[in-house]
Amino acid sequence: MEDHPLHSRVAVITGASRGLGKQMAEALAQAGATVVLVARNRELLEKAKFGIEGRGGKAYAFVADLSKEDEVGRFAEGVRAQAGAPDILINNAGMNLRKLLHEFTLEEWHRVIETNLDTAFLCARAFVPGMIEKKFGRIINMTSTMAHVALQCRSAYCATKFGLLGMTKALALELAPHGITVNGISPGPFATEMNTVLTQDPVRNAEFTAKIPLGRWGKMEEIGPLAVFLCSDAAGFITGTDIVIDGGWSAQ
Ligand SMILES: NC(=O)c1ccc[n+]([C@@H]2O[C@H](COP(=O)([O-])OP(=O)(O)OC[C@H]3O[C@@H](n4cnc5c(N)ncnc54)[C@H](OP(=O)(O)O)[C@@H]3O)[C@@H](O)[C@H]2O)c1
Repeated sequence: MEDHPLHSRVAVITGASRGLGKQMAEALAQAGATVVLVARNRELLEKAKFGIEGRGGKAYAFVADLSKEDEVGRFAEGVRAQAGAPDILINNAGMNLRKLLHEFTLEEWHRVIETNLDTAFLCARAFVPGMIEKKFGRIINMTSTMAHVALQCRSAYCATKFGLLGMTKALALELAPHGITVNGISPGPFATEMNTVLTQDPVRNAEFTAKIPLGRWGKMEEIGPLAVFLCSDAAGFITGTDIVIDGGWSAQ
């Protein structure tokens, strides 16, 4: 494992019970990191953890609603006690609610903001002091093509993802003197649970796929290597930016 790029690193991946978070956790573990998986669904988390351990990786699983300050506090304490202070934080937990703005309740609007922004703020605030102490850190915020371009019925989602990109840049400047890099990964369409409304409707799916310049959805295995690279020493001069992985969507 010593020659692996993330050997001896401890990495927290939020929203790692399924989808892109689980995929990145697997890739980071394969690259030698001890990975800490966190989400709300214990059963899926345990399954993801066993999968990683089955392939020789080291993983911890924690259940927490990361939009709640007290739960993040308990989670962070548990991580430091069991896995050690993290070197890497991937703020991946997120949600999308597609509807017209005037049909949103305030509760729904807040739920999207709490899930996509509060979780990233609370986790960064919990783990940055440990990174400052180490004079090393890697933070990745999962933004979106919707942090660069927009679509109708995505007002809350776009507000949070443009916001998360702004936070990424500001935090990169704040933490640069401490050897901590902060970047975004902006995925385009990947066929996760978040997109089942599209993928399970053959007509909408065909229409949507036709708009992707590469003519297909992202493959799940295409996200991990990018996350591994941004967390590695090789990416040490990259900070305050955002890598788009979207099959050309936002170039249009
Ligand atoms: N898929 C795409 O095409 C796409 C495109 C652009 C950006 N993204 C971004 O990439 C990230 C992952 O997306 P995905 O498609 O993999 O989504 P997903 O399959 O819906 O997974 C979302 C993850 O977030 C966790 N989560 C949600 N709320 C949480 C909370 N309050 N506390 C803790 N964990 C929470 C979920 O676990 P629990 O339900 O168990 O808590 C789950 O593990 C998101 O930030 C998303 O906005 C995705």
